[in-house]
Amino acid sequence: MPLLIRNGRVVTADSEFTGDIYCEDETITRLGLGLEAPPGTEIIDAMGKLVFPGFIDPHTHIYLPFMGTHAKDDYLTGTKAALMGGTTTIFEMICPPRGMSALEGYETWRAQAEGGACCDYAYHMGVTRFQDGTAEELREIVRNGNASFKVFLAYKGAFGIHDTELYHTLKLARELGVITAAHCENETLVAERSQELLAAGVTGPEGHYLSRPPRVEAEGVHHLCTFAELTGAAVYCVHTSCAEALQEAAAARLRGVNVSVETLIQYLLIDKTWAERPAFEGMKYVMSPPLREASNQPVLWQAVRSGLVSTVATDHAPFDFHRQKIALGKNDFTKIPNGIPAIEDRVNLLYTHGVKRGRLDLQTFVAAASTNAAKLFGLFPRKGTIAPGADADLVIYDPDHRGTITAAAQTQNLDYNAFEGWEIEGRPRVVTVRGRIVVRDGAFIGELGRGRRLKREPSHG
Ligand code: URP
Ligand code: ZN
Ligand code: ZN
Repeated sequence: MPLLIRNGRVVTADSEFTGDIYCEDETITRLGLGLEAPPGTEIIDAMGKLVFPGFIDPHTHIYLPFMGTHAKDDYLTGTKAALMGGTTTIFEMICPPRGMSALEGYETWRAQAEGGACCDYAYHMGVTRFQDGTAEELREIVRNGNASFKVFLAYKGAFGIHDTELYHTLKLARELGVITAAHCENETLVAERSQELLAAGVTGPEGHYLSRPPRVEAEGVHHLCTFAELTGAAVYCVHTSCAEALQEAAAARLRGVNVSVETLIQYLLIDKTWAERPAFEGMKYVMSPPLREASNQPVLWQAVRSGLVSTVATDHAPFDFHRQKIALGKNDFTKIPNGIPAIEDRVNLLYTHGVKRGRLDLQTFVAAASTNAAKLFGLFPRKGTIAPGADADLVIYDPDHRGTITAAAQTQNLDYNAFEGWEIEGRPRVVTVRGRIVVRDGAFIGELGRGRRLKREPSHG
């Protein structure tokens, strides 16, 4: 059924107007004022509402075997949660264990998502080893429409690759014109410092920060950028948490390195004291890189405003507080499953603390939460904007809504919410994916499993 959204304040990363959007056959076909629609069209009056392009989370882990357990969401719960919060496309990280080939990893992740995802999705292909045959497998995966890689400079013995592998991955990425996302922390420093801390009797979650101070991350960014400079590859630093790491990225850019930067809603809003809370509570806030000193937050906001940071993601990595974080990590901080889930709340938190608090204008908000990810990862202008020809992924957003985040009311399949009790000032009233309404007034009404894998062409040649 065609869809006409009337009288909304339509906001993209570079424009704003009050008017109508007409969608048919999954696509936006017309923008204008006083648009007419044929009988049978579903009409939504968006007077007083903002209309945004569907939001894009460029960094999620729905399926993630990690640290002796599995992330808790599946594609159904994780993507429903995304949609409830206005995110209509996710980029899932394929993270094969080092014992698994790239193709095996790719097939494993695809089997998890197919038929289960409710929003559209694409993959960053994790390169967790590079040996004979890997290049051919990666070429095939790229030919299959997966035009980005992911590497880990951390997690020794799990996903982490060594420098020879990094070099060959980036050379191949350069040849194929794909961008490489990277987790930047020096794995040797993390491993050695962790052992020293445990030996000194530091076992609680506060040890996590001490094992990976800002310089450990900054070294990772510096390291990645050196390899990017010498191979000519385009790179993307995921979950950048602190001023020191930003400075390394900025310095590399000045040298001409093609480096883009992601931060997370968590780093913008919560600091390391949350991970120091007593009685295991701090474990909820253990992720890598760790939450930082609060003094980093204004620096990160400024970097979003200036464009040094392109995207605000979640790195959604959901592990239950009781059955996973406490059960596995109560005697040893290095065993606390890493991750602070936020897929459902990213957009509302960024709108509340960014736009409503005057830190971001609407254009920068849309750019950081949607458009820039589409541009960096080969989805623009199909996703990330409102224009004829684009997929009809739209968020009719109510800026007058007032609500409170609670685990009890969430769709994420988890026993806690890191933002429990936080007020939000705005939420999606209607969300559409390719022209179909999937969320209305806080209820999911979409078709289960309708989400599609998005094929992308290399765009960093
Ligand atoms: O703590 C985190 N970030 N967990 C998810 C895995 C990763 O490093 O992205
Ligand atoms: Zn990471
Ligand atoms: Zn991640």
